[in-house]
Amino acid sequence: MTKYLIAPSILSADFARLGEDVEAVLNAGADWVHFDVMDNHYVPNLSFGPLVCQALRDYGIDAPIDVHLMIEPVDRIVPEFAAAGASLISFHPEATRHVDRSLQLIKEQGLQCGLVLNPATPLNVLDHLMGQLDLILLMSVNPGYGGQSFIPYVIDKIALLREMIDASGADIRLEVDGGVKVNNIGELARAGADTFVAGSAIFNEPDYEKVISHMRDQISANV
Ligand code: DX5
Ligand code: ZN
Repeated sequence: MTKYLIAPSILSADFARLGEDVEAVLNAGADWVHFDVMDNHYVPNLSFGPLVCQALRDYGIDAPIDVHLMIEPVDRIVPEFAAAGASLISFHPEATRHVDRSLQLIKEQGLQCGLVLNPATPLNVLDHLMGQLDLILLMSVNPGYGGQSFIPYVIDKIALLREMIDASGADIRLEVDGGVKVNNIGELARAGADTFVAGSAIFNEPDYEKVISHMRDQISANV
């Protein structure tokens, strides 16, 4: 049976009290910590890096940390994130010269690896790579900011990718990121996603437990 995972994007958390806020969202039922790394180069925004990942581990956060790199280049920072306690690292294929080399580098560090596809990036970049990946992240907004609206055509892309993953027989998570809310998460699960990033939809609500349980109810009602 598929395990559906909720991965709050801490880009929308309270940076001034990040440890407490991440602990609160995990206590409210979240599964993973989604960690958005932005460099003001690959994307037009700047967020946080390995020092902050390490600080969360030092604070006592032991949930999986799902590092989403929106940086260019990719390779240099991978060992730093491994040392800082990342569990999984995913990156955008456009952001590295040698996609296979970057994937191998992540695996050599003992971490799980993923590729991230922007809304307009075609699924055929995954050809030849299905056997190498632990996760494929479909962006449902253009990367760079939290709080944007879901781009509807990504639903069809989720369904196509679900077919590709099932046909490959590989054990790959299908994660969706951008504009995920209580009112669309059911449809995304029905299309074939199993891992859901949500930033503003969770952190902008006063009661994290309530919104996460509403999300789980919507998933269960649609699969
Ligand atoms: C966007 C990031 C997302 C973002 C999601 O570039 O990758 O993880 O924070 O935020 P919401 O859920 O608010 O769209
Ligand atoms: Zn993200």
